Amino acid sequence: MKILVTGGSGFIGSHVVDKLLEAGHNIAVVDDLSNGRPENLEHIKDKITIHKVSIRSEELDSVFEKEKPEVVYHLAAHIDVRKSVEDPEYDANINVLGSINMMQCAKKHGVKKIIYSSTGGAIYGDTKNIPSPETESPDAICPYGVSKYCVERYLYLYKYLHKIDYTVLRYANVYGPRQDPLGEAGVVAIFIGNTLQGKDCRINGDGKQTRDYVFVGDVARANLMALTAKTEHNIFNIATGKETDVNELFSSISTQVEKLSGKKTKSFHAQAIPGEVLRSCLDVTRAKQDLGWTPQVSIQEGIKKTAEFFMEQQKK
Ligand SMILES: NC(=O)c1ccc[n+]([C@@H]2O[C@H](COP(=O)([O-])OP(=O)(O)OC[C@H]3O[C@@H](n4cnc5c(N)ncnc54)[C@H](O)[C@@H]3O)[C@@H](O)[C@H]2O)c1
Repeated sequence: MKILVTGGSGFIGSHVVDKLLEAGHNIAVVDDLSNGRPENLEHIKDKITIHKVSIRSEELDSVFEKEKPEVVYHLAAHIDVRKSVEDPEYDANINVLGSINMMQCAKKHGVKKIIYSSTGGAIYGDTKNIPSPETESPDAICPYGVSKYCVERYLYLYKYLHKIDYTVLRYANVYGPRQDPLGEAGVVAIFIGNTLQGKDCRINGDGKQTRDYVFVGDVARANLMALTAKTEHNIFNIATGKETDVNELFSSISTQVEKLSGKKTKSFHAQAIPGEVLRSCLDVTRAKQDLGWTPQVSIQEGIKKTAEFFMEQQKK
């Protein structure tokens, strides 16, 4: 099948491209490289087409014209929650207007289905209903959560008005190889990166805030399964359903990285971030029932795979 992946040079997008290619699909990528890296697709660059184009630009139309995709995986987005709070207009410009531009192209060029990478944690906000099911109120408490949810509503609308099918995958905290250890998001990558560089790890507040950490390989598999699933539902949480607090996460990472590399690290506690969500964990019952998807990589295994990847990178 001819598939266009927006944001395909990014952390999750590049794993989705790997998975789709393995399954025999014909892949084109759109990425403006604002946060993605060409190295993420270096190993398959002769097997796919890569367009360095913004989803905000008029040029996107000519990519659709040339590639004629049947399906679009839409991952291109601005992902920095803190920046979204400082500059909500910037966030909405890319996440909302860029997505509408993509959907207009999809409509014009006869795309049959859009599979959208959304967020559970940021959309459900500070809910007490843990693990949160897909029916939880979308009470996002940051502009990024609002912009991601807004696109979900546009997808509903484009299905209603223009008969473009869609699936929304709401991820928990995704981690794994190729995540940026210098980014603002991605505490697993940041802690591993710090440990390998001999730096201490900063824990915000008391470190008892919890997240649901899902391995990127499991997320890529969910994306592939969403392509062919026959289901009444359009929205799925993709997570583990397990809560891990930052103190536990730090302890697992420091133990694992020390075992693999001999490098030791310490943690220190800094001021809590005002307004930070204290608990986040997603219910994955629906994905199990409808997609037949369950996470397969435990947090211990995932940390090991991620640390091994970063150690390999250091040698290059
Ligand atoms: N990482 C997570 O834990 C997580 C959790 C929930 C949802 N998501 C969603 O998954 C998707 C991928 O996130 P990621 O963590 O891989 O981030 P990422 O930044 O690595 O990937 C996003 C990609 O989109 C590209 N991009 C940004 N703006 C663009 C534009 N205007 N035009 C074209 N390309 C553009 C970036 O260059 C990057 O390659 C995003 O939609 C994000 O909202 C991620």
